[in-house]
Amino acid sequence: MEIERIGILGAGAMGSGIAQVCAQVGYEVVMRDIADEFVQRGLKNIEGFLSKGVEKGKLSEKDKEEALGRIKGTTEVSDLKDVDFVIEAVLEDLELKKQVFREMDDLTRPEVILATNTSSMSITEIGAATKRPNKVVGMHFFNPVPLMKLVEVIKGHETSEETIKVTWNLAEKLGKLPVLVKKDTPGFIVNRLMVPQLMEAIKIYEEGIASIEDIDKAVKAGLNHPMGPFELMDLTGIDIAYHVNEYFHREMNQELKHVTPHTLKTMVRANKLGRKTGEGWYRYK
Ligand SMILES: NC(=O)c1ccc[n+]([C@@H]2O[C@H](COP(=O)([O-])OP(=O)(O)OC[C@H]3O[C@@H](n4cnc5c(N)ncnc54)[C@H](O)[C@@H]3O)[C@@H](O)[C@H]2O)c1
Repeated sequence: MEIERIGILGAGAMGSGIAQVCAQVGYEVVMRDIADEFVQRGLKNIEGFLSKGVEKGKLSEKDKEEALGRIKGTTEVSDLKDVDFVIEAVLEDLELKKQVFREMDDLTRPEVILATNTSSMSITEIGAATKRPNKVVGMHFFNPVPLMKLVEVIKGHETSEETIKVTWNLAEKLGKLPVLVKKDTPGFIVNRLMVPQLMEAIKIYEEGIASIEDIDKAVKAGLNHPMGPFELMDLTGIDIAYHVNEYFHREMNQELKHVTPHTLKTMVRANKLGRKTGEGWYRYK
């Protein structure tokens, strides 16, 4: 089946970024969120990103207008009825994801692939909520989507080879670099490596070994990472680091190394979530 129209669920940081890259390479996009203010915020993000591209001479005003013209923002689930491929980017909450997958399973044609941008959760479990688990796949983009090349394509237990192939080809068409995650395991490749490192950075801070600034400086200058762990958490959202780590703890038999540091729990409880509130580690200290 030729993909012409892509449905995106969630117009947040990831959903709007994914909608943008899809529209820029010529797909028609329907981007759905639960309230109009979220849809408008997502569309504004996209417009801002594209405008910066025009200022920097990376694309023309015409390219920008054409890409924007291909994106329809909506709050109506039924507007995704005729899409050829779905990418889900709602909050990192397993029950919510299962619910939206059931909804999409009932709404879209049976041959349509349903992809999830989950950072860590089981593709198999999300797929089991549908009657088409062979067409459910992980398609894990990185933040900010228009700039980051990697897409992890994750095979759930029931995901078919054909589904993997179509998803892989779509990632390439979006100008991304896909890698295959052959087994459905928490955190896939990148987050399995990165989240324990973020937690260790928080523990170094909690133990009074170094300041947030110095830990960030050390990682940038010593490991050549473009951002330090605290800067990264502030960018992506502290709640995401928290939820992914709690999920690791549950899924990996409560291993001690996955216990969530107390300071992170407190920050999430106090709603100091970084990206979403303009707060985060650099305001919290
Ligand atoms: N932020 C990152 O760095 C990052 C990177 C890779 C993957 N992810 C994953 O992408 C997903 C989205 O993360 P985000 O950072 O964009 O979160 P976000 O909070 O910015 O956006 C999520 C959006 O989903 C919307 N939403 C909630 N229920 C919905 C529903 N039923 N239908 C449609 N929209 C709904 C919310 O209103 C919100 O606007 C999560 O699973 C996250 O783990 C995030």
